[in-house]
Amino acid sequence: MPRVAILMGSDSDLPVMADCGRILDYFGIDYEVTLVSAHRTPHRMVEYAEKAKSRGIKVIIAGAGGAAHVAGVTAALTTLPVIGVPIKTNTLNGLDSLYSIVQMPSGIPVATVAINAAKNAGILAAKILAVSDDTLTKKLEEYQESLNSSVLEKAQKLEDLGYEEYMRQM
Ligand code: RP5
Repeated sequence: MPRVAILMGSDSDLPVMADCGRILDYFGIDYEVTLVSAHRTPHRMVEYAEKAKSRGIKVIIAGAGGAAHVAGVTAALTTLPVIGVPIKTNTLNGLDSLYSIVQMPSGIPVATVAINAAKNAGILAAKILAVSDDTLTKKLEEYQESLNSSVLEKAQKLEDLGYEEYMRQM
């Protein structure tokens, strides 16, 4: 039973959005992945957003590029939390996607992560679910501790080797 929905406007978004699935796999969270385009499949987008909650979805993650409307319109059609992932574009480097997703009107929020930050979207979804899931909370604590340890190990190595040797070994 998927708890998270990963939507994207095009299969060309998949190489970025795959990071989202991978981190959800890491946390053991079931999810579904599909294509929903605000512009190319507008009726499908409405139907998907309206039915998601009753199907058991708890969090929606929507990645799109350019004039990226799927996250915002989905948020307008459901009470579920929606996380938007602005996809980097060739023409405007993803600023178009970022502004389209982040600049929502008052009343209809989309939790927007950084350009191409699909992994962070997955982690944020995990944190939302962890509010009522102690096992998941424990996994998130361990994950954050692993980040902490990783930086401390690097800091120690950098201090021991000096930056020139550290860079040679990178
Ligand atoms: C958006 O247009 C998609 O999310 C994608 O990022 C962008 C380009 O789509 P394609 O032309 O590659 O299908 O709707």
